[in-house]
Amino acid sequence: MDVQAIKQRFGIIGNSPVLNRAIEVAVQVAPTDLSVLITGESGTGKEIFPQIVHQYSIRKHGRYIAVNCGAIPEGTIDSELFGHEKGAFTGALADRKGYFEEADGGTIFLDEIADLPLSTQVRLLRVLETGEFIKVGSSKVLKTNVRVIAASNTDLSYAIDAGKFREDLFYRLNTVPIIIEPLRNRADDIFLLFRKFAGDFAEKYRMPPIRLDDDARTLLVNYDWPGNVRQLKNITEQISIIEHNRDISAPVIRTYLPDNRSNLPALVHPSREKTFSSEREILYQVLFDMKKDMNDLKKLVLDIFQNHNGSDVTEDQAHIIRKLYRDDIEVVADKKVSPNTHIDNYNKENILDTEEFVEESLSLEDKEIEMIRKALEKHSGKRKFAAQELGISERTLYRKIKEYNIDA
Ligand SMILES: Nc1ncnc2c1ncn2[C@@H]1O[C@H](COP(=O)(O)OP(=O)(O)OP(=O)(O)O)[C@@H](O)[C@H]1O
Ligand SMILES: [Mg+2]
Repeated sequence: MDVQAIKQRFGIIGNSPVLNRAIEVAVQVAPTDLSVLITGESGTGKEIFPQIVHQYSIRKHGRYIAVNCGAIPEGTIDSELFGHEKGAFTGALADRKGYFEEADGGTIFLDEIADLPLSTQVRLLRVLETGEFIKVGSSKVLKTNVRVIAASNTDLSYAIDAGKFREDLFYRLNTVPIIIEPLRNRADDIFLLFRKFAGDFAEKYRMPPIRLDDDARTLLVNYDWPGNVRQLKNITEQISIIEHNRDISAPVIRTYLPDNRSNLPALVHPSREKTFSSEREILYQVLFDMKKDMNDLKKLVLDIFQNHNGSDVTEDQAHIIRKLYRDDIEVVADKKVSPNTHIDNYNKENILDTEEFVEESLSLEDKEIEMIRKALEKHSGKRKFAAQELGISERTLYRKIKEYNIDA
């Protein structure tokens, strides 16, 4: 396989082993009909890979349709992908073919797959497994022969944990994973990309290309590029347009580089943050934490008043005080402290508020346990179906069963 020729054909710059490997995998998997999942941070260059797979497959004379799942409103995505029948919904004035019908014999690229609504994920799984689909508003089962390639710039395992992405669909799509490394892990490619972009923009704007001195080059290579190749391309374009002096020094480059990631909220990688399936989960988390604090507090107060008659606190109690009041007071662990001082300092109104929440949290927790039990009973202990009924992932259900010690 001539990887260099492929790069030339598709305009891919770079020579790092991880990039070459990703290209090799794409070409190797192309002649098969296996599903491919491409993952990598935003701006790493994922979009060219499904085209390589399509062009090197026997489907290359068939259609290639790229769909950005994140850009289609939830209400219309089923109809876009699978089509609809006349009268299926208000405004459906005629029958419409969906992309899966249009791309029969070809390839569909589903970009930003994490944004696909759960109901559409069910339809997608079916078409992947059997080739069957049903138009919106119809009951007739149709057949299609489409190869699916998906891409995501978020770690799908977080979406699975949050109950937003079906685990079975993930495994079905991820038959062959292709991972595109962030630009900072391909440092040798940074300057090659810069030079190519500088040349392209010089031609586009009819100006001499910008050139970097040694320090500027070092700065560029050592920067961590949170927006990856897209960011490098944009910055090269800005400098090409703005700087009259075409010899670029490090201080000049620095004015174009945001000095840390917090300046770039849109580029912060979502998979690095904990995600919750819904506001309800956030609320549960807050309430459970409060309940834990409350139990500790009760234990502490009881201990103080029963065993010590309000005298000095022990090391053990100081630990709890520190945990409970960490933001409000300072506890010196090795000194004996008077509990009265601390409790007096603590705002009594806060404690009252907390108690109200705790009442609520207990009932929410009970409700959740009850619902899990009911769902498991209804589906004869089959977790997969119970999880579907509850609208959470199987993994989340498994965690909750363990957490609450539910017989299952
Ligand atoms: N190796 C490369 N050689 C040349 N250009 C590249 C390379 N990698 C990326 N690019 C360019 O960088 C830009 C961003 O790439 P692309 O759109 O494929 O990113 P992406 O991984 O799909 O990001 P997102 O997840 O945000 O959609 C495009 O203009 C693309 O042409
Ligand atoms: Mg993209």
